[in-house]
Amino acid sequence: MIVCLCHRVSDRDIQREVGSGTCCFEQLQDDTRVASSCGSCLDCAREVFDAALQTRGGCHVAAAAGGALAFGA
Ligand code: FES
Repeated sequence: MIVCLCHRVSDRDIQREVGSGTCCFEQLQDDTRVASSCGSCLDCAREVFDAALQTRGGCHVAAAAGGALAFGA
């Protein structure tokens, strides 16, 4: 499913970013540009991001595995 039409970001793109260690939404935006133009996808993008993060077990899992910084998940 395409989440962001402006930048062609899909739910799978967001899930892949979270799986590779992204644990804050701003980092996701830097990497994918999601929700950085018209902004109409912001709520959906955040929902997909939060769900993916929860599925991954939060930020501390990535940090423990040598990934990105840990935020209070
Ligand atoms: S649809 Fe995502 S910024 Fe426009």
